[in-house]
Amino acid sequence: MSSSPIILQPSLTFPERIIEVDTLGFKEKFNHSPFMFSHNLIGHPLFELPRLVDLANNLFTKGQLFCCKNGNSPGIKWEQLPRKKQIIEAILNIQKSNSFIMFKSAHVDPNYKALLEKTLIELEELTTVPLHREITWSIATIIVSSPHSITPYHIDHDCNFLFQIHGDKDVHLFNQNDRSVLTEEEIENFYLGHISSANYREENQNKASVNHLVPGKGVHHPVLAPHWVKNRDNYSVSLSINFCLKTCDLQAKIYQVNYYLRKLGMLPTPPGQSALRDRTKILAVEMFSKRKPENHDEVLRSGIKRITAPAKLFQEVVRSLKR
Ligand SMILES: [Fe+2]
Repeated sequence: MSSSPIILQPSLTFPERIIEVDTLGFKEKFNHSPFMFSHNLIGHPLFELPRLVDLANNLFTKGQLFCCKNGNSPGIKWEQLPRKKQIIEAILNIQKSNSFIMFKSAHVDPNYKALLEKTLIELEELTTVPLHREITWSIATIIVSSPHSITPYHIDHDCNFLFQIHGDKDVHLFNQNDRSVLTEEEIENFYLGHISSANYREENQNKASVNHLVPGKGVHHPVLAPHWVKNRDNYSVSLSINFCLKTCDLQAKIYQVNYYLRKLGMLPTPPGQSALRDRTKILAVEMFSKRKPENHDEVLRSGIKRITAPAKLFQEVVRSLKR
């Protein structure tokens, strides 16, 4: 939501409204429970495959991350991939390449940045939450995937608005507050950096809301809502508008302290049950957090990493002395 000038590609325009104003549920359900919405990005030139190849080249040159994998089970884990040539070929042949490509920082390109900023302004209106003050980090992610691809079960710290642009898919979302689905330990591990800490359990599948996305539809994911996604018969192009919220960043710090308390054999108090304990834990981590984080990981983990760095260094020294 910065005000720095952006140079857009010639003739690029956005719909007057990206999100349909008749969508219900924004205020009431925002960051509490999933809901579907409508949007006007179908057929936009920024999501055509040749344009996405340009974006892939751009992101590769800038050293931005994206992942690619093939798989057909919600329980599989993320893996890193591959070379630029493989990714370009996978995009151009996406209907048959059995691939999953995630452009994690599409907004590095100013055109997608403009789209991110316009969407956040609309979301601020629709949610009535002062997002320009609450957001600590925001990104635009594009996901291009083959028919029947699966996004493995996982949780995110980001609030997410997922826009379906091409193809259709089912997004299975679970209640982030149901501890029979998502345990305190899984959340604590996640906030220590174990991104695949949430475990898919077949017996919980009937607790999911299944949101069928077609082009022009989208779904909102609250922070930490576990989810997995399966494409239907056509290739899929989706846009994720992700952002971190101040209140959720603070909660993450409580989980980080709880991780270590549990390691010490204690049964830590979950966030929200004791204001005093929550405040103490937040203060302890905040004292060490970077004032101006430079990436998503620093937003979340700079404080806890600085606290635990000496202990880790000590362990490394002991280990090396034993060799
Ligand atoms: Fe996700």
